[in-house]
Amino acid sequence: MAMRKKWHRFIGAWTSAGIFRDLGLAMSLSPRVVRKIIKPTVFILMLLPLAWVFYGWWLYIMGDLSLVTANPIEYTNRHLGDWAMRFLLVTLAVRPLSRIKSLVWLMQLRRMVGLFCFFYAFLHVSSYVVLDQFFDWPEILDDILKRQFITVGMITLTLLTPLAMTSTKAMIKRLGSLRWQKLHSLIYLASVLVIFHYWMMVKGNQLEPKIYAFIVAALLLSRLPQRVKKRSKLAQEKAGLQ
Ligand code: HEM
Repeated sequence: MAMRKKWHRFIGAWTSAGIFRDLGLAMSLSPRVVRKIIKPTVFILMLLPLAWVFYGWWLYIMGDLSLVTANPIEYTNRHLGDWAMRFLLVTLAVRPLSRIKSLVWLMQLRRMVGLFCFFYAFLHVSSYVVLDQFFDWPEILDDILKRQFITVGMITLTLLTPLAMTSTKAMIKRLGSLRWQKLHSLIYLASVLVIFHYWMMVKGNQLEPKIYAFIVAALLLSRLPQRVKKRSKLAQEKAGLQ
């Protein structure tokens, strides 16, 4: 009898809206699980694109061009740029996703993903400076001034640098939460610029930059209602003070 009751309760829970609540609860992870399991796993996963490049070069040295193609420098540069951009978009997606109750824990990963974005952007630019241009600084300067997509890339990297440098808790304290938030809203501009960088670089009518542009637009629009709400709340508070 007791067994049957238990069984009924179980069926009841899983056949009503409870299924969604249970799934939500199952997905909401404790800070400890995130710190001990999820974070190290994501860390390793985010290193895989870099490992992929090394693997490609190893094959290349062995005479197999199937991965890095006949132009391994271009492949390396583009692959690293792609991943820098993808991680930038993931960083941007964390806040809207974490509004879902069971995904709040995603916020614990945001700093790490953001730093990986910068890491890949740095490697992308380094591959251009070292492998593509062989430290030919006058040529690099000429590129920055004359090739518009490189100019935009340079601005994007310049915007990302202070964000990476101020990502620690100590820096949040030092700058103050409001100033820190203002500085870090540069990520929106960086995400738009990286799309321009990509779009200006590709030749012909390619689908990929359009897909990324659509994702950035959707992510930025998803922040709009929250921003409007925050602003009107601030304005109301100010009016109340006067
Ligand atoms: C000083 C800064 C930068 C320079 C000099 C630079 C340079 C380049 C170059 C030379 C290419 C390849 C062009 C070609 O193969 O024809 C490229 C492509 C690209 N870059 Fe950058 N870049 C910079 C910053 C960035 C940043 C900060 C990001 C991302 C956050 C980024 C993301 C990309 C992407 C997604 C591509 C296209 C890759 C593809 O074709 O799949 N770049 N960049």
